[in-house]
Amino acid sequence: MTLKKTALCSISALLIILVTGVTLSLTLAPGPASAQNHPPRVHADADGLALTPPMGWYPWNIFGEEPQTEKLIKEIADALVTSGMKDAGYAYVGQDEGICFSRGPDRKLISNLARYPSGLRGLGDAIHSKGLKYALYTDAGSKTCSTAMPGTKGYEFEDMRAFAEWRADYIKIDWCNSEGQDIVKTYSLLGEAQRAAGRPVVHSLCSWGEGYPWKWAGAIGHMWRTTSDICGPGQADWARAVRIAFANEKLSAFAGPGRWNDPDMMVVGMPGLSEVQNRSLFSLWCMMASPLIAGNDLRDMTRSTIDILTNLEAIAVDQDPLGAQGHVVWNDGDVSLWAGKPLFDGSRAALVFFQGKSKARLRIAWEEVGFAAADELYVRNLWTHETTGPHAGGVDVAVGGSDVAFLRISKKNEFPIPPILVADTYLVSLRAAGSRPEKLTGTVAVTNKGGSDLPPWRVDPKSLPSWLSVAVTGAGKAQTFVNTVTTAGLKKGPYHAQVRADNVEPVSGRPMSALYYDVDLEVVRNVRK
Ligand code: GLA
Repeated sequence: MTLKKTALCSISALLIILVTGVTLSLTLAPGPASAQNHPPRVHADADGLALTPPMGWYPWNIFGEEPQTEKLIKEIADALVTSGMKDAGYAYVGQDEGICFSRGPDRKLISNLARYPSGLRGLGDAIHSKGLKYALYTDAGSKTCSTAMPGTKGYEFEDMRAFAEWRADYIKIDWCNSEGQDIVKTYSLLGEAQRAAGRPVVHSLCSWGEGYPWKWAGAIGHMWRTTSDICGPGQADWARAVRIAFANEKLSAFAGPGRWNDPDMMVVGMPGLSEVQNRSLFSLWCMMASPLIAGNDLRDMTRSTIDILTNLEAIAVDQDPLGAQGHVVWNDGDVSLWAGKPLFDGSRAALVFFQGKSKARLRIAWEEVGFAAADELYVRNLWTHETTGPHAGGVDVAVGGSDVAFLRISKKNEFPIPPILVADTYLVSLRAAGSRPEKLTGTVAVTNKGGSDLPPWRVDPKSLPSWLSVAVTGAGKAQTFVNTVTTAGLKKGPYHAQVRADNVEPVSGRPMSALYYDVDLEVVRNVRK
């Protein structure tokens, strides 16, 4: 308890250092911060992951450490599906700091079977079979923040192998208890260890902005925390969340497909925020192309929280294939205008945030949001879902206290939604019981909930072992991966493949995040040729 408190206190102290750090690093940089000055995204280029910001759920914000168990995570996974969040693109779900493993005498990590009776691999399989992806948590230092779990320091390769064996798809790596460690070397080594483990994962760095990860982490992982924690477990803090948004927006030049600034898991739907504040925070996170990791109790959501978290028109801005992070264009203290977010169809997002009390009325001029003064434009309100226009020169908006006007502006009277992928499962399990050769099949159905028809998925032949072939059937929004296993000549034992498929977003021509799923084959006896 005392230790935990100390960890949290030192984290809040960091906020101050951090905000100073952000300012310092930006003022020291020669000229305006530009993504061209920074290392290319090496990691995402190779694994194709997180080319749009990852979406999912993590337990820390609402639950903290104690309540996390297999039962809870499974209930949350079910709620992700039944609430409609899975259909809106949320996929990653798993544990944060929650005593889910310890280190055994042979250096290997062991699942905590008291809390996770199926073991961490068993939980991963359960999550995958619901068409969701598995997220885990660890630390780059000697122990996690609460000191309750072992960190990876000195065990980088063993631990990343364990995460791969448990079939994690996303790993958040914290920076507690790392005194004396070089941050770039440490996270680079962890990236190397993840690659050596052979299972592509979204690598989420969590140094709360320490070491200015936006400058180097794109070469190692896919996202990095830019600030200290958004709240203490159980209670949202509006002022703190808003401060974090304003610190994070300054780093917009560093974000792009495969490398994202992470202003922390969301507090939408948590105690402490009003409906208007929930809507505003969600809009700010979408405008900043932030990872959308929900942090509330999904088993107990109001209709309004569900509607906010699943607003596809807002999510479309976050998940836009161009991956631009919006930022503040001007801020008069109470009112700020956010723009700098071109979208894949030629439209642009803009947001007015009013931190005052009564009502702000103002006019947005087209030049302020990236269009020409002479343009005649349609304006889509992403919360009322109404389109007005064409408007000449600009548009008038009225915004209430703590509220936003979240808009999409276009030359056309159409506002398409980019691809939002949903799979019925990410795990195909097959069993060959006899000794006679046979063909077994299992399918993965992938639906695009966005507006466009997708070209057929291309399966990476390098991801297919000789016993497995995959054909993609269907077209456009609904495509099915038909996996055929040929058992002839296989020896008794377990077989596993991780299939990778790639696609492009047809309107912008941009590559989409690669799709991965697992195929397990159990061969009960040796099979004749
Ligand atoms: C740090 C992280 C949080 C959470 C806790 C767990 O504070 O920033 O998001 O993971 O550790 O102890």
